[in-house]
Amino acid sequence: MPRRPGEDEPFRLAVLASGRGSNLQALIDARDDGRLPVDIVLVGSDRPGCAAIGRAQAAGIATVALDRRDYADRAAMDRALFDYLAARRPDLVILAGYMRIIDAAVIDSAPWPILNIHPSLLPKYPGLDTHARALAAGDREHGASIHIATVLLDGGPVLAQVRIPVLPDDSPEQMAERLLPREHALMVAAVRLVASGRVLLSPARIQFDGARLAAPLQLDDNDELVPASH
Ligand code: GRF
Repeated sequence: MPRRPGEDEPFRLAVLASGRGSNLQALIDARDDGRLPVDIVLVGSDRPGCAAIGRAQAAGIATVALDRRDYADRAAMDRALFDYLAARRPDLVILAGYMRIIDAAVIDSAPWPILNIHPSLLPKYPGLDTHARALAAGDREHGASIHIATVLLDGGPVLAQVRIPVLPDDSPEQMAERLLPREHALMVAAVRLVASGRVLLSPARIQFDGARLAAPLQLDDNDELVPASH
C-alpha cells in the first residue's frame, strides 16, 4: 500500500531503465531540488553499462544490472531482478524506458504497484514507433501516458497523460524531441502524486481522492496533474 504523508520513512521509489535514462535523471533532479520527496532506493537495468546506470551511480543510488545471458530464460532473469527490488522494499516501481517485456507471472506476483511511461496517448499506439504512427494517422495531438504495468503490453489502466500538438511538417524525430521534456514533467508529477497517498493503484483500477479514476489525469502548463475536462 502507498504510504501516507506524515509516516516516518520517506516514500521508497525504485526505477527500472534500459538506456539513456533521461526520465530517471528528471526524477533524480526533482528529488535533489526538493520537488519530489522520495528516496530512490534502487535503479535496476537489463543493460549493464547503460547510461541510466551511470546516472544512478553518479547520484549515489544503489544499482543492479543483470545480463540476460547469465539466466536460463527471461522468467529467471525477471525473477532475479524482482528479488533485488523486493530486498529494497519499494512502495512503487516505475519503468522509465525499461525496454524488456517482463514475464507475466513475475509482474502478477509483485506486491507493489508498477507504473510505465509510454510515448503515446494510450490506448492509441501501444508498442513501438509511436511518433511515426501518430503522424501517419494524421493525429492533431500526441503525447505520453503513465499507466499501470500489467501483463498486457502498454495496456493497464492509465493514471496520467501529457498532450502536445502535432505541428505542420512535423517529423517523428521532432515530435520525440518536443515530447521528451513533457514526459519528464509527467513522470515527476505522477510519482509525486502517488507518493502523496492520493492515488491507489491496482492492476484493475486506479482510485484518486477516494473515487475511481474515470479518465486519465492531465498535466497542465504548470506541471500539475488535474482531472480531464470533458
Ligand atoms: C521515453 O521516450 C519513454 O517514453 C520510452 O522510452 C524513452 C526513454 O527515454 N518508454 P530515457 O531512457 O528515459 O531517456
